[in-house]
Amino acid sequence: MTDSTAPTPPPASLRPVVDAALAARLRAAFTAADFTADGCLDLLGAAAYAALARSETVPALRATDGGSARETLLRLFLLQRPVSRAAAEAAGIPVQECLADGWLTADRPAGPAEGAAPDGGGIVRATVDIRPYANDIAGTDDAGDAWIVSDLGCSVGGAGGIGSVGGVPRSELVLGVGGASTTLANITVRRPARRVLDLGTGSGVQALHAARHAATVVATDVNPRALHFTRLTAALSGLATVETRQGSLFEPVPEETFDLVVSNPPFVISPGGRFTYRDGGMPGDELCRSLVAEAGRHLEPGGYCQLLANWQHVRGEDWRSRLTGWINGTGCDAWVVQREVQDVFEYAELWLRDGGDHREDRAQYDARYEEWLDAFEAAKVEGIGFGWITLRRAPDGRDPVVTAEEWPHPVEQPLGPEIERWFARQDFLREQDDAGLLAAHYRLADEVVQEQIGVPGAEDPEHVVLRQNRGMRRATKVDTVGAGFAGACDGSLPAGGILDAIAHLVGEPSALLRDRAPEQIRLLVEQGFLVPAALDPDGSA
Ligand SMILES: C[S@@+](CC[C@H](N)C(=O)[O-])C[C@H]1O[C@@H](n2cnc3c(N)ncnc32)[C@H](O)[C@@H]1O
Repeated sequence: MTDSTAPTPPPASLRPVVDAALAARLRAAFTAADFTADGCLDLLGAAAYAALARSETVPALRATDGGSARETLLRLFLLQRPVSRAAAEAAGIPVQECLADGWLTADRPAGPAEGAAPDGGGIVRATVDIRPYANDIAGTDDAGDAWIVSDLGCSVGGAGGIGSVGGVPRSELVLGVGGASTTLANITVRRPARRVLDLGTGSGVQALHAARHAATVVATDVNPRALHFTRLTAALSGLATVETRQGSLFEPVPEETFDLVVSNPPFVISPGGRFTYRDGGMPGDELCRSLVAEAGRHLEPGGYCQLLANWQHVRGEDWRSRLTGWINGTGCDAWVVQREVQDVFEYAELWLRDGGDHREDRAQYDARYEEWLDAFEAAKVEGIGFGWITLRRAPDGRDPVVTAEEWPHPVEQPLGPEIERWFARQDFLREQDDAGLLAAHYRLADEVVQEQIGVPGAEDPEHVVLRQNRGMRRATKVDTVGAGFAGACDGSLPAGGILDAIAHLVGEPSALLRDRAPEQIRLLVEQGFLVPAALDPDGSA
């Protein structure tokens, strides 16, 4: 791992020291004790493990009082409890070195408190949160054990009103993995890549994933502490290919291009930039707009940029036009999926709670709430959309395709492979006229089922629905001819041939079916119900 920005010696806020040799010894101790994501799940059980994701630690404490090495490590680094120095040593921790490098601090026991050493040797505490993480989305066989380092009390990735920690102002705190982090990791297209950029890396989770399928990863952030934590995460997880650079948006990579850019940016639309981890400090949704607008210049041909974003729903403006406006001119094909829309009240309340403002004086809370609403009103904002934006740099000279759709329903994660297939299907559709669509062969995608809806006992259904049990889990209404057509698509006959056979069966002129079919075939291919044989050479789409 290289670093062009770390000051030496590090200031107190940039501890523990990044030392690859010590990190390797810690990793060896963690692995030996099975202090891994799977190991913690086994130890705690699913319910107590799930409680941790809600920042509730009591169930985990109750499950870790046996004194084994894994229990000690879990209490020390994940639950941030003091443990005796002897127990830490028995768990394989090089305590003396960890004290020197700032991973641990030492205390004398204050009495018969938890963690007091029976041998009188003192107690140690972790200075950072270390959370085992299964870095296993890349589709490889090994478990990909990793460890994410974040500020104490910030591991869950939503600060929820924590104050400053260890003298570090709250605005600079580095959070761990939250729901948004996992969503982005899951929707990322994971192909072998030469260079990946993780913009706004935080504690390094996206960089960690990217390092599994990229030769080099550049991780950037405006917050130097975030870069430090990314270096700790990478060192502890044994990844030497992550380079950290400080700066805003694409500033640290002015002329560089990447095969993949991922970003879970500080997308919250808020008055003022109080918290670096979530507020971009630009007016409205400007930070996400600039990121999208600049991304194309930093992508290799065919390269992807994927980000999570919030966007304003402005009075008198269709949200789709707003997003299309961001994307036009980037030279990228794009697929925008709006997952959720919140009204301005829900939105302000969500983020005021995240900021802990609800625990402050009521008058102050009300004043802040007013401030958010004033800002929304001034910008004519009626709601805020949240969703995923995927851009793919189109070949020069080709008109990009931009699709913005609303899909608030559950999907099957990881969705990355389906996102890549969506773009491939768009390429196929772009190249086909109606005759081409009818001449092509298709296969019904795996796990598509047919549902028939109608009055019980009726001879014919009122509706036939095709439903996907995979990927986006879409459903679409078809007529009986459409259902028959989809069912017959096994790749052996061209679409036109299947339609001719159906026409013969139902006694309709073949030309009529052939006229009507291309529009429906386009939709079924775009939405992934039908896989063109050209994209499915081995029949395994
Ligand atoms: C929501 S956190 C995401 C952290 C991590 N990538 C993840 O997926 O969990 C956003 C990160 O962006 C950083 N950030 C804030 N403003 C930025 C900017 N203008 N340019 C680059 N990074 C920024 C913050 O410091 C923070 O680490």
